[in-house]
Amino acid sequence: MKALCWHGKHDVRYDTVPDPILEHPRDAIIKVTACAICGSDLHLFDGFMPEMKSGDVLGHEFMGEVVEVGAETQNLKVGDRVVIPFTITCGACDQCLKGNFSVCERTNRNADKAAKMFGHTTAGLFGYSHLTGGYAGGQAEYVRVPYADSTHIPVQDDLTDEQVLFLGDIFPTGWQAAVQCDIEPTDTVAIWGGGPVGQMAIRSAVLLGAKQVICIDRVPERLAMARDGGAVPINFDEDDVVERLQELTHGKGPEKCIDAVGMESHASRSMDSLYDRVKQAVGAETDRPHVLREMIYVCRPAGVLSVPGVYGGLIDKIPFGAAMNKGLTWRMGQTHVRRWTDELLQMIADKRIDPSFVITHRARLQAGPDLYKTFRDKADGCIKVVLTP
Ligand SMILES: NC(=O)c1ccc[n+]([C@@H]2O[C@H](COP(=O)([O-])OP(=O)(O)OC[C@H]3O[C@@H](n4cnc5c(N)ncnc54)[C@H](O)[C@@H]3O)[C@@H](O)[C@H]2O)c1
Ligand SMILES: [Zn+2]
Ligand SMILES: [Zn+2]
Repeated sequence: MKALCWHGKHDVRYDTVPDPILEHPRDAIIKVTACAICGSDLHLFDGFMPEMKSGDVLGHEFMGEVVEVGAETQNLKVGDRVVIPFTITCGACDQCLKGNFSVCERTNRNADKAAKMFGHTTAGLFGYSHLTGGYAGGQAEYVRVPYADSTHIPVQDDLTDEQVLFLGDIFPTGWQAAVQCDIEPTDTVAIWGGGPVGQMAIRSAVLLGAKQVICIDRVPERLAMARDGGAVPINFDEDDVVERLQELTHGKGPEKCIDAVGMESHASRSMDSLYDRVKQAVGAETDRPHVLREMIYVCRPAGVLSVPGVYGGLIDKIPFGAAMNKGLTWRMGQTHVRRWTDELLQMIADKRIDPSFVITHRARLQAGPDLYKTFRDKADGCIKVVLTP
């Protein structure tokens, strides 16, 4: 079959690889009908995530049709239409039973590697390095879905692929980021990053009843999309972010802050980001935490910092004293996708939201290698890419 494979930093190829086969009775094989490139894929593309191997099949946001099921997969049959959550979940461990699916204790085949680095294992993920199980991803014609009975979202036929595809990742990610803010009707929610995750977080914060939502980015079309979604835009190339946030909150700062940027943040006006770039270049720091520092500084005391943006390792010069003394609450994590998807699917069916608004680029899978670059460079107005094998 054909698939997009990682071969090193900035090297994604449209390769021919072996078809996946059932390896366990709880597996299913999915014929992919649509897949997307996620901001998290860019961390692999840019070479920031450890434990990738040449030839790894990429992709963790995908959906399709079941073409084969293992003997123990009772609730799926050939022909079923499903979206696959990017977090592989067993459905039966202590964490899954609590709905903490992204820290499932059983699905990471390389649990010992993850435990060595993080203290505990986290869930297996599709197409996301050998630290999270080394599972082949869904930017491919076919995918093997392990623990398929608990790792799928059934979707009805009257909704299009584009309407439901993002249930596998960015829609619940933006939603979880907003839910974790415990939004009250008097709250200002400031969201750093107007990429696909930031866009979903904006819609979620609006749906959850925030008084004011603000989006910080510097890409004009992303800020325009943020405004369309109900957010006040701040361009960090043109304005001082802290000053603007203070103005918009009468000098008090936003109660809730969401980091939808993660480890590759940019900054145009600050010394700290120069420092991070130097340290990152020589390997003395893995991630660039400019947004985290800004959030700690500007967040109103007793506020919440919600972090869906991905960090991989070590960060430096975090003003933890400010966070502690201001009594801030940290909420973060990979998304517990399946915890939210029944509710979100219903919202799509009820036409309260159509997540396909974020798509700017549609192409066949073979265009994937070029579109990784387009998406990374935010070229050609690119906000979200959907590929069809
Ligand atoms: N927690 C999860 O489960 C989960 C799921 C999906 C994605 N993510 C993560 O969410 C983050 C965003 O993903 P995306 O798909 O929207 O990616 P993206 O790269 O398209 O978006 C990031 C945006 O941040 C902006 N940005 C950069 N520096 C900034 C700064 N200093 N201030 C404000 N904005 C800044 C960029 O211009 C860009 O528009 C990534 O780190 C990704 O890995 C996490
Ligand atoms: Zn993702
Ligand atoms: Zn589990």
